[in-house]
Amino acid sequence: MQTRADLQSQIRAWRQAGETIGFVPTMGALHSGHLSLVRLAKKNATKVIASIFVNPTQFAPGEDFDTYPRDESADRAKLDSAGCDLVYLPTVEEMYPDGTKTNVRVEEMSDLLDGIYRPHFFYGVATVVARLFLHTQPDVAVFGEKDYQQLQIIRRMVRDLGFPIEIIGGETARDADGLAQSSRNLYLTPEERRIAPAMQAALHRASVRLSNGTLPSIALEEARGLIMAAGFTDMNYVSLVDPATLEDLPDAPLPEGTVARLLAAAWLGKTRLIDNISVTR
Ligand code: PAF
Repeated sequence: MQTRADLQSQIRAWRQAGETIGFVPTMGALHSGHLSLVRLAKKNATKVIASIFVNPTQFAPGEDFDTYPRDESADRAKLDSAGCDLVYLPTVEEMYPDGTKTNVRVEEMSDLLDGIYRPHFFYGVATVVARLFLHTQPDVAVFGEKDYQQLQIIRRMVRDLGFPIEIIGGETARDADGLAQSSRNLYLTPEERRIAPAMQAALHRASVRLSNGTLPSIALEEARGLIMAAGFTDMNYVSLVDPATLEDLPDAPLPEGTVARLLAAAWLGKTRLIDNISVTR
């Protein structure tokens, strides 16, 4: 289904029949991580809508908007198999019928971590997700924890704007060697694919060290070193932050009972990979 009008007449019919709606926004190139989000949505609502929209406003000039992997018929088949009830495939004109003069900016949180390296990114994400919420009018929406900063920004936007939507985080799906599933893993050469799980291994090691009381500056520096020694080509960050505000934590052993989040981003050749892990002391 491609138009907001068709979508909304289906939603009206479902609402009249007493159905509840779960929503999973995607940019396509679906992998089993996306399908686990669809299944999670299905546990929390009677009907599930997934959108496939490669959103131009979250790509900067020179990023991979034009080459972002697109395979609509394979994506539709995967969504059907996961129990998705409706696939919404809006065009750019349907999402931005009169341009993009109105934007949603979740201040501060969008400028940290990935926001330092991709300053446009979370403004584009919040804007399109707000528009998608207005199109799909869900009761619940599911976002992957793989994109942890995005998930927290969406939670904050929903709180600030009072969207009557419950946001659910879905656990990161991983390959057997620990690599977080991502549509961009398709860009990796076989040699890069072999190196890629080193990021998760380094984060896991750092999270154990932090939960044993190691000073964050020591654990984080060691994680950066392990990632680069494995063959990553450029480090963006390994940071230990408050799990809700995403602000850096002080460089002191974590107090007992603390829950924090460790996030990383680094380049492996032409591919930028991100990952994160929870840390509990
Ligand atoms: O995570 C993604 O795939 C995208 O950022 C999203 C949430 C679909 C918005 O375009």
